[in-house]
Amino acid sequence: MKTLPELLGIELPLIQAPMAGVQGSALAVAVANAGGLGSLPCGMLNPEELRKELVALTSQTSRPFNVNFFCHRPPKPDAKREAAWRNLLAPYYKEFGIEVASIPAGTSRTPFSHDLADVLAEFKPPVVSFHYGLPAPELLERVRSWGGVILSSATTIADAIIAQGLEAGGHRGHFLSGDLTLQMGTFALVPQIAQAVKVPVIATGGIADAKGVAAAMALGASGVQIGTAYLLCTEATTGAVHRAALKSVAAGSTALTNLFSGGPARGVINRAMRELGPMNDLIPAFPLAAAAMAPLRAKAEAAGSGDFSPLWSGQNPTGCREVPAAELTRNLAQDIFLGPHARNRTACSLQSSQS
Ligand SMILES: Cc1cc2nc3c(=O)[nH]c(=O)nc-3n(C[C@H](O)[C@H](O)[C@H](O)COP(=O)(O)O)c2cc1C
Repeated sequence: MKTLPELLGIELPLIQAPMAGVQGSALAVAVANAGGLGSLPCGMLNPEELRKELVALTSQTSRPFNVNFFCHRPPKPDAKREAAWRNLLAPYYKEFGIEVASIPAGTSRTPFSHDLADVLAEFKPPVVSFHYGLPAPELLERVRSWGGVILSSATTIADAIIAQGLEAGGHRGHFLSGDLTLQMGTFALVPQIAQAVKVPVIATGGIADAKGVAAAMALGASGVQIGTAYLLCTEATTGAVHRAALKSVAAGSTALTNLFSGGPARGVINRAMRELGPMNDLIPAFPLAAAAMAPLRAKAEAAGSGDFSPLWSGQNPTGCREVPAAELTRNLAQDIFLGPHARNRTACSLQSSQS
């Protein structure tokens, strides 16, 4: 079996997690050039925006990078649920002076499609990862046609498996069952998946520093994917209220909530989560719930408050640093080559990437 760096053509077994809404090509470029796998989240990009980001990426790095897509089944809009959701939010609309009729429905999150694959085909990205399962076989075949390596959360059809523990920030990769109580912690999940499959396993969720990276690898992971720790990096586009929350003591209290998109995701507990949830059965299915929340978020953020914002964060915010992403990547990788799994080849390449 190839090692993860061999499979992905990178130096360090370290993947910067794709994080829609808080980063674009700049973070991916910085991590790629530092020897990790930089990721571009594409779940909220239309084909034109995707092309622009891919031009930016490919003009600033010659290293492999990952593009990430959602592949959820778009739900049928349900007028009753949308009305119930808006009704629940009515007191807040009143508080902020928002006219309910002015709020558009719809979503900016679209699943992987032939239109998006057309753009990808122009750039032939070496790695493509999927959240919420895998797309239709003919779409997957298009990615395979240029030799793209496919990463997915927990399916054996992929070339490597992302094992996401419940500690992870943002949306769950969980898609076979809606029962969140079944989600395991990273360090319980990784050894079990590693034992069960023959492809490399990528540990993600709650890993925030070099010791965590080395521990995940000691448990059988071939590499790690790290999200939350990158959120304060210079190149991340994390908004001001989100940054403030991550730097506050509140960052130690996260919960799973479906209030911001309709799908369960982990974020720092805020007013909306306290008063309406964090999980609420009444709201529209993923990703339709976001539209009704959007104007409240905008009003609150304009006043410097994160009360109605998705403050995505994993359970372990201790690795968040306001430093360039290359520096964070090097720090995260510093213990990888000390353990029994150290390999001369990668140790050499680490030295060369630091020189
Ligand atoms: C702000 C934020 C946005 C995220 N967006 C995505 C996304 O667009 N696609 C995806 O596959 N995972 C997304 N994730 C989940 C990450 O891929 C990863 O599983 C998680 O960040 C790992 O846990 P950690 O945050 O504790 O490092 C997101 C996570 C965060 C924190």
